[in-house]
Amino acid sequence: MSFLILLVAAAVGIVRSQSTTSACDYQWITQPIDHFGGTNGTFQQRYSIFDDFYEPGGPIMFFQGEESWVLDCANTTIVYEYAKQLGGLAVSLEHRYFGQSLPYGNDSHIPSNMKYLTLDNVMVDAVSFIDHIKETIEGAADSKAIVHSGSYGGFLAAAFRLNHPDTFFGALASAGPVKSFSNSSDPDTYNWWRWVNRVYLERSQEASSKIQNAFQVLQKRLASPDIASLKGELNLCSTPSLNDTVSNARLPVTIANIFSLAAEFNYPIAQPGRSPIAYPLDRVINITLEENDPIQILNRTFWSWFDAPGNQLAPCLNHTDPLFLQKAVPPIETVPFHYITCTYMPLASANVRTGPSFHLTPRHLTVHLCTVI
Ligand SMILES: *[C@@H]1O[C@H](CO)[C@@H](O)[C@H](O)[C@H]1NC(C)=O
Ligand SMILES: *[C@@H]1O[C@H](CO)[C@@H](O)[C@H](O)[C@H]1NC(C)=O
Ligand SMILES: *[C@@H]1O[C@H](CO)[C@@H](O)[C@H](O)[C@H]1NC(C)=O
Ligand SMILES: *[C@@H]1O[C@H](CO)[C@@H](O)[C@H](O)[C@H]1NC(C)=O
Ligand SMILES: *[C@@H]1O[C@H](CO)[C@@H](O)[C@H](O)[C@H]1NC(C)=O
Ligand SMILES: *[C@@H]1O[C@H](CO)[C@@H](O)[C@H](O)[C@H]1NC(C)=O
Ligand SMILES: *[C@@H]1O[C@H](CO)[C@@H](O)[C@H](O)[C@H]1NC(C)=O
Ligand SMILES: *[C@@H]1O[C@H](CO)[C@@H](O)[C@H](O)[C@H]1NC(C)=O
Repeated sequence: MSFLILLVAAAVGIVRSQSTTSACDYQWITQPIDHFGGTNGTFQQRYSIFDDFYEPGGPIMFFQGEESWVLDCANTTIVYEYAKQLGGLAVSLEHRYFGQSLPYGNDSHIPSNMKYLTLDNVMVDAVSFIDHIKETIEGAADSKAIVHSGSYGGFLAAAFRLNHPDTFFGALASAGPVKSFSNSSDPDTYNWWRWVNRVYLERSQEASSKIQNAFQVLQKRLASPDIASLKGELNLCSTPSLNDTVSNARLPVTIANIFSLAAEFNYPIAQPGRSPIAYPLDRVINITLEENDPIQILNRTFWSWFDAPGNQLAPCLNHTDPLFLQKAVPPIETVPFHYITCTYMPLASANVRTGPSFHLTPRHLTVHLCTVI
């Protein structure tokens, strides 16, 4: 998850107009509300398991759910691919206090009920879950578990491996908030947009340079007398004007975020909370390679995310609306996530658009996401 997007995501439960999620056979495991004896209660935690490729003794490829109310079915995450290659089990576990894994039912997000939302409990949930899998799946008693997740979940994957190496043989931490590990002589070492650039460059050098050019053309147009015609070319809600510099600066950022989301959520199927279309990254690359009008590269990419202009979520691109990007973001469950960013993961966002494709106006943005408690 791009932290810029997290930053603007204040809404919970964004409903997609298009839903093509496939059903998932979820299962439940009983967990203590507190693994450390603070209370004796238990709750049901949701998980999914996919064993089509499993060969006894094969690895347990474990996807840790993150700050979403949607739990990815194990067969729609990257662990499916790994399980396929390794003869492994693909499993996913919902994060406590999110989705349907609620220690206090519908009252779970009342402040006084949040105290067992601790990193230690989250880690031990995963340890007990892996123990449960090893006990119940034939031949898995000595299987090695590899934890994977992204963004906040990437942080968790690394934390699980560091703190519970006996359970987690390995960790694949994607897009974790690693800003704090940055090299002081190169503060952008782990810059999000550097990663996005690299994804596009690796897919196609040609697409990458066309994207770079498209953003440069957009910047020029936003400073030129024919700025008004961008309304029709990008399906903007209102006619842009030269003097509205704030909105004009927001427009490329809004569009760039769709490129980022497509790279982050290149899932094989459309599903709420991830991507509204299947293989969005491949779609963006295809659009870019086949389209020669730079502004249309941006227009078609932007609207591919919403399917088409007129979509009920976004009938037009409202570049004057600071909260417009919320419509594009996955369904972050903000109450418990803000609790986490105010307690054990006080992350900061620092996105600077560097590198070839997204070389927009440098914008240093460091905002602490703890805004609630
Ligand atoms: C994933 O597995 C579920 C059963 O748990 C099935 O209904 C669904 O169609 C599968 N999805 C994909 C994309 O294979
Ligand atoms: C949990 O149950 C045990 C045994 O009934 C009891 O001794 C203990 O006080 C309980 N702990 C809490 C936190 O309620
Ligand atoms: C909890 O909320 C859900 C969704 O609003 C509702 O369907 C369910 O009945 C509630 N459960 C209880 C125990 O109140
Ligand atoms: C830190 O960044 C500088 C400048 O890019 C680079 O030369 C150096 O190798 C980096 N150090 C580490 C430990 O990555
Ligand atoms: C912008 O893209 C959308 C979606 O591909 C398309 O329907 C629309 O015609 C494009 N706008 C222009 C002016 O070509
Ligand atoms: C820009 O100029 C137009 C026309 O002069 C005016 O109506 C509008 O309020 C101005 N907008 C801003 C953001 O200053
Ligand atoms: C992208 O284009 C390739 C080559 O034409 C095609 O095989 C693929 O299905 C396309 N992918 C998407 C998501 O449009
Ligand atoms: C665009 O956003 C502005 C600012 O939030 C709002 O006043 C306006 O009504 C919006 N326009 C449309 C067409 O939604």
